[in-house]
Amino acid sequence: SKATLTVCVSGAAGQIAYSLLPLIARGDVFGQDQPIELRLLEIKPALDALHGVVMELYDCAFPLVRNIVETDDPMVAFQHADVTILSGSFPRRPGMERRDLIAKNVNIFKAQGQALDRVASKNVKVVVVGNPSNTNALVLSHFAPSIPKQNITALTRLDQNRAVGQIAMRTGVNADQVEGVAIWGNHSATQYPDVTHAKVNGEAVMPKLGGRQAVAEEFIPCIQKRGAAILKARGLSSAMSAANAIGDHLRSWILGDSKVVSMAVASDGSYDVKPGVYFSFPVRCGGGGDYEIVQGIEMDEFSRKYVSATTEELFAERQEALELCAV
Ligand code: NAI
Repeated sequence: SKATLTVCVSGAAGQIAYSLLPLIARGDVFGQDQPIELRLLEIKPALDALHGVVMELYDCAFPLVRNIVETDDPMVAFQHADVTILSGSFPRRPGMERRDLIAKNVNIFKAQGQALDRVASKNVKVVVVGNPSNTNALVLSHFAPSIPKQNITALTRLDQNRAVGQIAMRTGVNADQVEGVAIWGNHSATQYPDVTHAKVNGEAVMPKLGGRQAVAEEFIPCIQKRGAAILKARGLSSAMSAANAIGDHLRSWILGDSKVVSMAVASDGSYDVKPGVYFSFPVRCGGGGDYEIVQGIEMDEFSRKYVSATTEELFAERQEALELCAV
């Protein structure tokens, strides 16, 4: 039988984790034959709540779960981690400036990067979920120099799934009949959900969505602001769909995927995005944790405008984060 996979989750008493942990523990992400050790990280004030979650995990009697660790120490949580999901971060409070949010999170992801560097498997696969996720991934990578940059990613699969879901709904097809959607850039309101090459049943999506102007005025803002719309409707941020997307992201990345998927990865200069930021690109996952940024996608004026806006935002966040790291 397979060796146990050590999976670490931060923010483990949070909303997303509450939807994610059963997916992982049931074998929906890494496979039905993959034993799992869960190492769960929280901040001290949330350890009681975390213990409640762990009690429930035991009460699920998941056959694949070999061991569960609860801790508020990243050095304990990340010990020998093969996969690390970072959903714990400092939330944006009303009236908080972006710089303040980045400052709070720089401290968290600095400490976690240092711990990861020291105690995780050198082959650990990391997905950063806590916002601002792309820049948190950058800070983490900066402080974990012994972990290859390609092993650190940030989640934009939720944005891709949202775009696919909207196209399926609006054109009256099943989600699996939609292909060629890509998310470029930051997981923020500047992200570019690109449907210029998307197809349903082999036919171009753009005309079906009403053409470029309708896509620019209606479809793209719908995806960019979807998180805020769910927060308004539910009174809580998206958690079920986020957990589902994390499962999709990891399944594609670790087990491979015949379809092109979007994830934020260290830019390598592809599509004129200078190296130095974590940027969402369409990638092809070959299995075993290998992936490559899909090359040669034609980018017209329409797309370039969006890509350059989100690139600029990421470099501005990078600047702020690096200044704060140096302090
Ligand atoms: P939540 O507030 O329910 O849970 C977050 C948990 O993280 C809390 O239990 C908190 O105690 C914990 N935490 C805070 N600082 C921590 C630290 N330093 N170490 C370990 N744990 C820590 O939030 P929820 O709904 O689970 O969302 C988590 C994050 O994911 C938020 O930042 C949210 O904005 C982000 N998010 C990102 C998405 C994406 O697509 N990239 C989608 C949805 C949410």
